[in-house]
Amino acid sequence: MLVSILDRMTMEEKIGQMSQFFGHTEHISEHLANSIRQGRVGSVLNEVRLHTVNELQRLAVEESRLGIPLLIGRDVIHGFNTIFPIPLGQAASWCAETVKQCAHISALEAATTGVNWTFAPMIDISRDPRWGRIAESLGEDPYLCSVLGVAMLQGFQGQELHKIGSIAACAKHFAGYGAGESGRDYSTTNIPENELRNVYLPPFKAAADAGVATFMSAFSDLNGVPASGNKWLMTDILREEWDYKGFVVSDWESIQQLTTHGFSKDNKGAAYEAADAGIDMEMVSTTYLEHLPDLVAEGRIDMQQINTAVKKILQLKWQLGLFDSPYTDASLLPKPLNSQHLQTAKDAAIKSCVLLKNDKNILPLSAESLHSVAIIGPLADDPYEQLGTWIFDGDSQHSQTCLTAITQELSGQANIHYVKAMQTSRSHDQADFKQAVESASAADLAILILGEESILSGEAHCRAEIGLPGCQEQLIDAIAQTSTPIVLVIMAGRPLTIETVLPKVAAVLFAWHPGTMGGPAIADLLFGKACPSGKLPVTFPRKVGQVPIYYAQKHSGKPATEKGFVHMDDIPVHSPQTSLGMAATHLDTHFSPLFPFGFGLSYTQFSYQNLELSHKTLKLGETLVVRVLLTNIGDTDGEEIAQLYIRDLVGSVTRPVKELKDFKRVKLAAGNSEWVTFELSTGKLAFYDRNMQLKTETGQFHLWLGACSQTGLKDEFEIIDD
Ligand code: NOJ
Repeated sequence: MLVSILDRMTMEEKIGQMSQFFGHTEHISEHLANSIRQGRVGSVLNEVRLHTVNELQRLAVEESRLGIPLLIGRDVIHGFNTIFPIPLGQAASWCAETVKQCAHISALEAATTGVNWTFAPMIDISRDPRWGRIAESLGEDPYLCSVLGVAMLQGFQGQELHKIGSIAACAKHFAGYGAGESGRDYSTTNIPENELRNVYLPPFKAAADAGVATFMSAFSDLNGVPASGNKWLMTDILREEWDYKGFVVSDWESIQQLTTHGFSKDNKGAAYEAADAGIDMEMVSTTYLEHLPDLVAEGRIDMQQINTAVKKILQLKWQLGLFDSPYTDASLLPKPLNSQHLQTAKDAAIKSCVLLKNDKNILPLSAESLHSVAIIGPLADDPYEQLGTWIFDGDSQHSQTCLTAITQELSGQANIHYVKAMQTSRSHDQADFKQAVESASAADLAILILGEESILSGEAHCRAEIGLPGCQEQLIDAIAQTSTPIVLVIMAGRPLTIETVLPKVAAVLFAWHPGTMGGPAIADLLFGKACPSGKLPVTFPRKVGQVPIYYAQKHSGKPATEKGFVHMDDIPVHSPQTSLGMAATHLDTHFSPLFPFGFGLSYTQFSYQNLELSHKTLKLGETLVVRVLLTNIGDTDGEEIAQLYIRDLVGSVTRPVKELKDFKRVKLAAGNSEWVTFELSTGKLAFYDRNMQLKTETGQFHLWLGACSQTGLKDEFEIIDD
């Protein structure tokens, strides 16, 4: 059937399928309606009014010559109406099932409006917390990002794309977009091919293998060739090496921007480079519509290339069942924001919060022993700011805030004094500090709810300093002057440099932007109805100058050690210059991170014992079975994320000091034990070598199994030739 449609299409209609129009205007514009009628539109993005979407489909199906339905695209990133934690928060759950469930509900809700395609998951490896889009990422690690990225796309796409409530997913941004210079969005990336293949591409390969319907090309310049005109990426790697069968959409006007990059002379050149590279659909800019006909007529673009692109686009419409049922009947889908969706949002937020500090086990709080609590901060009762970036279709009126949830929790038990203290997270006005200090002084406990407003992270919202914004540190200082203990809850879209804050507070719960149900989730954690279990999916630096800092760094020839570290304050004046005994460190801060990747406290403790490896020596192709006895030695039921890391000691290209190879979230009642088992095939230890061949090399390996990237029981094994 698709071939017969393709045979009947004019060149203009084919190029129309390769064009995506911006839809969200008050009324369907005459221009858009006529373009659809003329078959010049393959997809519309950002229209989510059901009636309008159905009308757009009607124009396409009933008034265009061939009646081809439309793809309706939208950024459904971490929820639609029900907002889940930001993706970086979801990643902190280290729970594929949770991520999948959040995406599944997002798809169900989005589908009620006729949206059939989301631009997610974003699986850009993100090692720079200055970058605003780290919020939308799944963190710094290729393995964690691959596992969770696949879970997310499976949640969106469901078992089968044609089932009601399934929407097509999009692996973005291919590739390297997270590595922009100095953490500025859209900026240049220079990533050696070996690093690209070993770090940045694996999540995309995993998504391709898992059947993600589409890819999106990045805005960024990769090693001198912008991704949206990069034939090596889009054709050589994606299609030829990986045999990917879906289609690639550009990012917003990123084809036209090839000219701005200085990569093409004009829009015609841009259309040529993008089409030749293998970008199948153009988002918003119109260089394809305007120039592809000439480029084909001139023989520069082969008609076969156009046919291939159009076939893939039609194929997705077919898989989604749009040729049979282009219209949406929302009554066939569950109602958005229903109690089950909200419960999932709450569970996800609980799993995503990371407990960073808990002095003298101040948490969990006991409601009975509190008489008076001060709740302070600009994010304590802000239904909008807890939602985070990319919430086009979320409505803050459904948000449940910390103030509401804690008030409910303490009702009839303790008095609550709420002081916002700052108008926004960014303000510098300290006029209300006096009131905040008074209420803290009069209370048994001060719960400070601080962090970043939503708009301080996300696309194009990058920061050069990543501390608590505005006068929040001064607010903490002022309250720390009282003898009232402080529990600090932070909502943010990125890791923050909070080293100086830590000594002043008794506990820190890092909640990211937790979404619609953030308040009840945080209240459950604070009062022990739930036990914290999230672990950091990204390293927290002490100072921004340490960036990039990530656990899987290379060893270097002079690795940082305590012995090799000298703080500048300890260097005698007029010391002669020397590098003897020195190492890869900064003079003004310790080389360790503030909190390492994989770190997160619990209200209970877990012990790891009896690490057992099935082999000390194994041949290529064999599988190492690793197990450890995990025991909940505290008196609270909890969940632990057991993490398995390796180090390949000698490689034909140097290997990271540690690499995450597997993990498991294990639920254990207080006092209980469980053997946790992992299977590590030698194939899982492969990496791209100097010749860009994916190979497992023989030799010695170290292995750690434990609670984070910096701890764990250790053993060794060797791989030998078979
Ligand atoms: C630009 C962003 O980079 C991309 O991720 C998003 O999907 C598109 N805009 C569409 O909104």
